[in-house]
Amino acid sequence: MKKNALILGIESSCDETAAAILEESDEGLPKLLSNIVSSQTEIHKKFGGVVPELAARSHLDKIDFIVNKAILESGKKLKDIDAISVTAGPGLIVCLSVGLNFGKALAMTLKKPFIAVNHLEGHALSPKIITELKYPYLLLLISGGHSQYLAVKNFGKYKRLGTTIDDALGEAFDKTAKLLGIKFPGGYLIEKLAKKGNKDRFFLPKPIINKGGCNLSFAGLKTAVLKISKTLKNKQDKYDLAASFQKTIEEILIKKTKIAFNEFKKINTKSNNIFVIAGGVAANNKIRENLERLSLEENFKPIFPPRNLCGDNAAMIAMAGLERYKLKKFNKLDYPAKPRWPLDKKATFLKGAGVKL
Ligand code: KG4
Ligand code: ZN
Repeated sequence: MKKNALILGIESSCDETAAAILEESDEGLPKLLSNIVSSQTEIHKKFGGVVPELAARSHLDKIDFIVNKAILESGKKLKDIDAISVTAGPGLIVCLSVGLNFGKALAMTLKKPFIAVNHLEGHALSPKIITELKYPYLLLLISGGHSQYLAVKNFGKYKRLGTTIDDALGEAFDKTAKLLGIKFPGGYLIEKLAKKGNKDRFFLPKPIINKGGCNLSFAGLKTAVLKISKTLKNKQDKYDLAASFQKTIEEILIKKTKIAFNEFKKINTKSNNIFVIAGGVAANNKIRENLERLSLEENFKPIFPPRNLCGDNAAMIAMAGLERYKLKKFNKLDYPAKPRWPLDKKATFLKGAGVKL
């Protein structure tokens, strides 16, 4: 009898040390047997951002324990694992190297295939852990390092439709949180504060809202938040700024998503349109509600990963690993860490001031 593939996923691209075990299933959806995520929030909090050297040291301290815990909780044995999939990029090179070296050593010892996974592909495929997902689909990837609209034409075939020309959306959330006195990474607390505030109190700009297709920009918005934050006098003022920021982001995403829908329809020849929203910021309730409503209005089927699979995790790395395993897409053990690794290799670099859109 054919044994169902058992994949170990390892993630260490930034400040989460994570490992997961995913089992292929005959009935369709794979089974997530364990999913361990250890966050380094406490280490980086006092510095207001991720310190690469400290992050790498913490990964080194914990990786052995986290991988063992994932195997233990899965109820399987190390020898049962069929392949080891590891995030090889994009991310912080010192952090990526920890997971990569650990995974490669394990693959060599167990004499099992090694699979290098693109972290962004992990986010892109994360809904597949809980639901069926057919190609092609439109993907909005919103995380701490990336904000992009991509047409996912097939497995591994991406066309970027739009990207941020400056800050990532998660970064904008985290910076706004910092200006409101919330310790890093406070992005997720913005929506909590926003609930107590008046969303119409402060006017905030929506950079490149009427130009640049579905490209995004958040730097000007951040500067406006910085200016207003200096005038705040009490708690209610903070709540009002959080609410105004959250509302502005929702409006930007609605407008830009409508444009992305149209761009996607030019590529998608099938009648069904699917819209996947993934990455850490996809855990934001109001963003979910707004994009869900818009999708239904515009005849798109919205798909979100569950909230615990929006932020960085190794289950999504195992998922991408399983897809590659089925296609026998294995990698050699000299595979390098790739700090920059765009999903659409043909897309031009769109960063910085002076970009003409
Ligand atoms: O995907 P992720 O865990 O890491 C990267 O690959 O970057 O995303 C982390 C980002 C952080 O900026 C965090 O503040 C943001 O996702 N985030 C949120 C929420 N939860 C996490 N932003 C807005 N609302 C949330 N509920
Ligand atoms: Zn991520």
